[in-house]
Amino acid sequence: IESYAAELKSALRQFPNFPSEGILFEDFLPIFAKPELFKNLVEAFKLHVGDTKVDYVVGLESRGFLFGPTLALALGAGFIPVRKPGKLPGPTLEATFQKEYGTDKFQIQEGVIPKDARVLVVDDILATGGSASAAGLLVEKSGAKVVEYLFVMELDFLKGRDKLNSPVFTLLSGQEAKLEK
Ligand code: PRP
Ligand code: MG
Repeated sequence: IESYAAELKSALRQFPNFPSEGILFEDFLPIFAKPELFKNLVEAFKLHVGDTKVDYVVGLESRGFLFGPTLALALGAGFIPVRKPGKLPGPTLEATFQKEYGTDKFQIQEGVIPKDARVLVVDDILATGGSASAAGLLVEKSGAKVVEYLFVMELDFLKGRDKLNSPVFTLLSGQEAKLEK
């Protein structure tokens, strides 16, 4: 896992002052442009999961959709999306969370996760933990269990992990996201 992580980390591209002043944005999209890196990203998560039983991978819109389904397939698990409001047809469960300005909502389709299913919640980055904790709540509202939260990156100084009450794994070590001014 460490050697995959080192290789993946060196593929990240840094964009200073995006999306706003003082933030160093770590872009992980170059990983998907190279099939061997994309393959190793999935392989590294797969190695971490090992023989832990997983029924579903729940991916968060939008960036959790980039690798969630591929990881699910590699694990022999199903994929279920958590989406922003108004995108999913039929009855949905909803959870509200804090964003930088105001609140946002996530939805999941009702009845798609069987009760007692074992779920991995995946996303690109753990920042304040608002998005991931809302997704975890939707899994729990469905009667299923979050086995673990998986992220590619983590902004550890925001302490997003403290909002999550299942184990958290971050593939690439925390990035220093504040620029010196
Ligand atoms: C970003 C990122 C995570 C979330 C992390 O998504 O992809 O999903 O923020 O932040 P948090 O831990 O503070 O909740 P964003 O809402 O920008 O949308 P996107 O994935 O659709 O680009
Ligand atoms: Mg996102």
